[in-house]
Amino acid sequence: MKPEHQPLKIWLTGAGSGIGRALALHLAQQGHQLVVSGRSEAPLLALAAEQPHCIIPLVCDVIDADSVRQAAQRIEARLGFLDQVILNAGTCEYIDQAQVDLALVRRVMETNFLGLVACVEVALPLLKKVPLGHQPRLVAISSAAALAPLPRAEAYGASKAAVSYFMESLRLDLAQQGVAVTVVYPGFVATPLTAQNDFPMPMQVTAAAMAEAIVRGVARGQPEIRYPRLFVGLVGFLGRLPFRLRQWLSRKMVR
Ligand SMILES: NC(=O)c1ccc[n+]([C@@H]2O[C@H](COP(=O)([O-])OP(=O)(O)OC[C@H]3O[C@@H](n4cnc5c(N)ncnc54)[C@H](OP(=O)(O)O)[C@@H]3O)[C@@H](O)[C@H]2O)c1
Repeated sequence: MKPEHQPLKIWLTGAGSGIGRALALHLAQQGHQLVVSGRSEAPLLALAAEQPHCIIPLVCDVIDADSVRQAAQRIEARLGFLDQVILNAGTCEYIDQAQVDLALVRRVMETNFLGLVACVEVALPLLKKVPLGHQPRLVAISSAAALAPLPRAEAYGASKAAVSYFMESLRLDLAQQGVAVTVVYPGFVATPLTAQNDFPMPMQVTAAAMAEAIVRGVARGQPEIRYPRLFVGLVGFLGRLPFRLRQWLSRKMVR
């Protein structure tokens, strides 16, 4: 298929399922060249088989620093530089009945936060190698959970709040170097990650709709993407309410 836009070189993490898979297909259909990574090889190969001219599969575990470094070396050898890095790999585990479990929190933080940081570290030199006229960009998938404390989300919400703070702070420091940053705040999206949820998920959207919103927002150069807007707006509003009201509403969500 002919590219509608300038074809970009993109690294997308967590591409084997859910939002990442939908994003990969959407971007490949637009003619961009993608390296798609994840831990499991089979879904990446299946994805690449759908768009063999645009999609390069690469096994990479974001919590393994060597694996991330090797991934960057392979990307540089194949593509030379990167226009965009989409930091989407993530996991979710909940804390039940305030049974704080360090191992669980560590697992979630290592994947969602430190794994993202590891990818940023190796990706920045490749983003800075873009030819003149290109706009290099880091895109991080945070969550509406970063915008207000939600029940059982101690680990997940904290990891996403860390992602948002890290990326917002990095945006300030990268401005002089010409690298743009977009932070994405999805609401509930139907993916294998949310299939485990045993509670109602209001205003849930499909992975394809979420991917379309991300691609559209990034193409416009938006620093933030909140989708679906009403749900993410309500969570953000909850986070800014006076303490007593926020506490009263949040308690209603506890099972
Ligand atoms: N679904 C939602 O409602 C929702 C809402 C807000 C934010 N998000 C965020 O959106 C992103 C995508 O989630 P999703 O809903 O599409 O879930 P998903 O289908 O489970 O996708 C997550 C992907 O991350 C990969 N991954 C997990 N751990 C990894 C690791 N250590 N190294 C490399 N890859 C790893 C997984 O592949 P492997 O297992 O093969 O590695 C998987 O393909 C996540 O960051 C999630 O927190 C989702």
